[in-house]
Amino acid sequence: MTASKGLAVTSAPAVLRVDDPRRRELEGEGWTVSARSWGARLAADRVDRQLLAALAGRGAALGTVRELHDDDAAAILELDAATASDYPGGIATSHTPLSVAQVVLTGRRRAFGVLGLGEKLLAMTFVDLDGALAEIDFTVVAAPWRGRGLATAVKAASVLALLVDGVRVVRTGGDADNEAIIRANAALGFVVDEQWVTLTAPMRGG
Ligand SMILES: CC(C)(COP(=O)(O)OP(=O)(O)OC[C@H]1O[C@@H](n2cnc3c(N)ncnc32)[C@H](O)[C@@H]1OP(=O)(O)O)[C@@H](O)C(=O)NCCC(=O)NCCS
Repeated sequence: MTASKGLAVTSAPAVLRVDDPRRRELEGEGWTVSARSWGARLAADRVDRQLLAALAGRGAALGTVRELHDDDAAAILELDAATASDYPGGIATSHTPLSVAQVVLTGRRRAFGVLGLGEKLLAMTFVDLDGALAEIDFTVVAAPWRGRGLATAVKAASVLALLVDGVRVVRTGGDADNEAIIRANAALGFVVDEQWVTLTAPMRGG
């Protein structure tokens, strides 16, 4: 990259697997790790359905746990907007606020939620599907409702529903500092099988 004299120059952060050989090269040039993230996998044949049903039941004690539909769009957008700035981490785990078009649910994009009084959405998880593979896009819980098992519950309910519909592998991921989602996934049986670093370029003055 070239730059005019006097201007600070940066390159966009790079997301690499922890063991990517390019990491050493970039770190040698002064790039530093600004975030760490991971991916995890849950295979259908490793799922403890009884356990997941019990975890989903914690959500049922606080609201109605069910799949979300187009009629829920307003509640989805409201929860998404209220929580947009709550996602920790760097570009690897950032969450772009949902547009109206992204709330259209299809066979390839499904969502599950926990709804409280007046159909208020307390928690939701969005999943992208490709045949028998499901990838959880994001999970979020309304701030006042955190720490009561709702993220675990809504993910448990979604995994159980997806298995019934023929999904064989569910993937998820997140930031290494996001203790709550790491613990929720561990409780569900997800196994971390990928680790990533986000490298940020050194600032260079001209
Ligand atoms: C991450 C998030 C979804 C967790 O929701 P939640 O309903 O509070 O999670 P749960 O109550 O199911 O808790 C899951 C586990 O994390 C633990 N936990 C909850 N909040 C925690 C916190 N702030 N710090 C550390 N651990 C926490 C719980 O004790 C539980 O662990 P356990 O199973 O060992 O008891 C919620 O904090 C959130 O919406 N954050 C903003 C969006 C986000 O980061 N989403 C995840 C990435 S897509």
